[in-house]
Amino acid sequence: MDAALFQSRHEALVQQAENALQQLTPSADTRPARLHAAMRYSLEAGGKRLRPVLCLAAAQAFNPSAKADAAAVALECIHTYSLIHDDLPCMDNSDLRRGRPSCHKAFDEAIALLAGDALLPLAFEVISKAYADQPALACSLVAELSKTAGSTLLVGGQTEDMGGLAGGATDERLEFILLGKTAAMLSSSLAMGAIIGGANKAEVEHFSQAGRSAGIAFQLVDDLLDLSADASRLGKPVGADSQNGKLTYASLHGIEATRQRISTLTEEAIRHLQATRGDSAFLAVLITRMASRDR
Ligand code: IPE
Ligand code: IPE
Ligand code: MG
Ligand code: MG
Ligand code: MG
Repeated sequence: MDAALFQSRHEALVQQAENALQQLTPSADTRPARLHAAMRYSLEAGGKRLRPVLCLAAAQAFNPSAKADAAAVALECIHTYSLIHDDLPCMDNSDLRRGRPSCHKAFDEAIALLAGDALLPLAFEVISKAYADQPALACSLVAELSKTAGSTLLVGGQTEDMGGLAGGATDERLEFILLGKTAAMLSSSLAMGAIIGGANKAEVEHFSQAGRSAGIAFQLVDDLLDLSADASRLGKPVGADSQNGKLTYASLHGIEATRQRISTLTEEAIRHLQATRGDSAFLAVLITRMASRDR
């Protein structure tokens, strides 16, 4: 796929995700207005929309007319809630997110906590409404996303991440953190898209594995950006991980080994994408570009 075609498809998918977010989440003036304004503030604040784009593109890979908007929105709701809570003073204590004051800075800590709380069930409300006439599909999407958002993956990874370097600097612990806090959501993004597109069980598993590999690479890049990037381009502070004593692949193995692993994981992800009947050309380019992103 050439660069111009990739870019136009990428822009179209981001726009589709933005439109779906506008349509499927409550407006800022819904009562209580301060809560909904905070939810909208964080949802609207210029994220890359990677998880929705992965989901929409995975669905299209198997069925160009698949309807994946609700799943894409649900993923972004959970992701955004995780960022709001991640930034709280009791967690990473970060004042900048998506180029703007973090939710608890723009509003206050209680509202940030509650906005996150509300975005989590909203994800499942959106899915159950949108796929109400396909209960088996709704059920498998909820099963996939609830497992990923739960105590063994997203929340579990965030829990062990809080222990930082002091919690034990081992590869085994680091892999649990990487899979849980980041890779599981990318894995579910591709898996849910594949499910909606009508992929078979083996194909869903390949997409899930692709997301796991790409997701670990994604967090490794995030950790490198924290060491070297430009905060204004990144839209969040740099140097936060060492300040917070975080356990990262780079802190354990160094920058060169981290770069190596990013490229190995990226190749692994692409091999999984190419092992199905789906048209994964767009996703392969997206995952390749994710490895060298600067924001
Ligand atoms: C940030 O995710 C948190 C990580 C898992 C590294 P993104 O880099 O996708 O953040 P947004 O959505 O673009 O703001
Ligand atoms: C992100 O890890 C994981 C989640 C928010 C679930 P980080 O703490 O590294 O993310 P950033 O760097 O604050 O975006
Ligand atoms: Mg964190
Ligand atoms: Mg953080
Ligand atoms: Mg980070």
